[in-house]
Amino acid sequence: CRVAVVGGGANAEHDVSLASAAAVRDALAPTHDALAPTHDVVALTIARDGTWSTDGVALTFPEAVALIATCDVLLPAVHGPHGEDGTLAALADLAGVACVGSGVRAGAVGMDKWVTKLVAAAVGVAVADGHVVRSAAEACREPRLPAVVKPVANGSSHGVRRVDTVGELAAAVAAALELDDRVLVEGLVTGREIDVAVLRRADGTTVTSPPLEIGHAGAVFDTATKYDGSARFVVPAELDPADADRLAAAALAVVDALGCQGVARADFFLTSDGPLMNEVNTMPGMTPHSQVPRMFAAAGLPYAELVAELVAQARV
Ligand code: DAL
Ligand code: MG
Repeated sequence: CRVAVVGGGANAEHDVSLASAAAVRDALAPTHDALAPTHDVVALTIARDGTWSTDGVALTFPEAVALIATCDVLLPAVHGPHGEDGTLAALADLAGVACVGSGVRAGAVGMDKWVTKLVAAAVGVAVADGHVVRSAAEACREPRLPAVVKPVANGSSHGVRRVDTVGELAAAVAAALELDDRVLVEGLVTGREIDVAVLRRADGTTVTSPPLEIGHAGAVFDTATKYDGSARFVVPAELDPADADRLAAAALAVVDALGCQGVARADFFLTSDGPLMNEVNTMPGMTPHSQVPRMFAAAGLPYAELVAELVAQARV
């Protein structure tokens, strides 16, 4: 099976996407040990400026598409806008190549934190109060503080800030507007941070992962804490069985409603009133140290098998 693995991307999560793509490539075609490659991997990278290359050789966009069209499967290991948002799934669709993970619609909706909240609420999953603003002035008209400010569509906590004063609110909205033209202002939620992943298996069944708890010292699980090695993951999270069941049911309900394929990770706060969904990642971090691989490894599915399974179930 010939697999085009795309990494990088023209967005703030570029470096994380390079790491995910490198790990995925190594799982499919190991270079560092005696394991035989299981797949014929074509490595493609999208630079921050949107230009494409393969193994360091620049490609025009038509050349990149032509190369992808020679493959059986496209694996878009690109987090964030211009990748995880359905755009690479669309490219695969139009090229007639099977694609790993969510299709165009689930990717686009899942990338939009506001629409994802509307969908979650519609299927009975609690979310933080929030509203969308397009300017700092609009946000400061009737401020409700403390709040969390985030771009509607981004990832890895880029542009996410906790704010306690109107001055901080205005500055945070201005900063988030650097990353998107819409900004979500949400009421601050306190609770344990728990992730649950949902995997559609090649045989058509769906499994939820063991829950993973994130331990960190900051006010928000911010970009630096995500990748500086200081965060502690506990998997399986120590939870009351009733809470674990509620989290798994909520993750499934939202992932089903969005129509996600492959693997998706739903992120929650477990509050004193129960689970509250924060967001869904339709192409979650995929290094062996990222949450999803850690969760499935804890359930007995090793990283290389998880990646191979995602490729096997890719759909045209
Ligand atoms: N957006 C990052 C990569 C994640 O969700 O893991
Ligand atoms: Mg995210």
